[in-house]
Amino acid sequence: MSLKDKEKWDKKYSEMSSLLAQRPPSKHVEMFWKLAPGISALDLACGSGRHTCFLAEKGFHVDAVDISAVALDTLRSRVNPESVNVIEADLDTFIPEPESYDLIVKTNFLDRALIERAITALKPGGILIVETYMADPANEKPDSNPDFLLQKGELLDLFSEGFDVLEYKEFRNEPHEKYRMRKQAIAVRKS
Ligand SMILES: C[S@@+](CC[C@H](N)C(=O)[O-])C[C@H]1O[C@@H](n2cnc3c(N)ncnc32)[C@H](O)[C@@H]1O
Repeated sequence: MSLKDKEKWDKKYSEMSSLLAQRPPSKHVEMFWKLAPGISALDLACGSGRHTCFLAEKGFHVDAVDISAVALDTLRSRVNPESVNVIEADLDTFIPEPESYDLIVKTNFLDRALIERAITALKPGGILIVETYMADPANEKPDSNPDFLLQKGELLDLFSEGFDVLEYKEFRNEPHEKYRMRKQAIAVRKS
């Protein structure tokens, strides 16, 4: 399954170099990183690292995890290894250290079990930002796997206990993306 993910994503990044272009951070990351109580950050499924680069510029030490060696090579060329630890790993099995991070971001990637592991990896008072695609009849992407789409209100339900919800939104994705899709984002503080 994950070898397939790796092949799929390495092929995508190799064939579509636009996917490796430097992109602006998510509005939610831009808005809520400031509330992190310290400077240790984890970027899950970081790709070529739009959030890793953004957070490193803000002074964070970032662990940046992805399965694609192609994306991670691009990321390495953009960052100072003193502030970014690039980790090639399969997030199906990757277990971050408990209570280790002040800030965790996970954007445009859905693995519900990984959200649970991210919660464990967050320090008390730490900030978690999750943003990804949700099911919607108006979605344009033809081959979306329904398992990788959030249901309406799903993130809000997931963080209903043990967190302060700082923001929850359902919205249309950014214009730089190929297909118009509905997304969901949440920023929470762990109690
Ligand atoms: C749509 S990109 C999102 C990149 C980045 N988070 C962003 O928002 O720009 C999804 C990323 O998930 C990574 N990915 C897919 N399956 C994975 C797995 N099993 N383990 C680790 N990374 C995976 C891909 O390599 C890809 O970089």
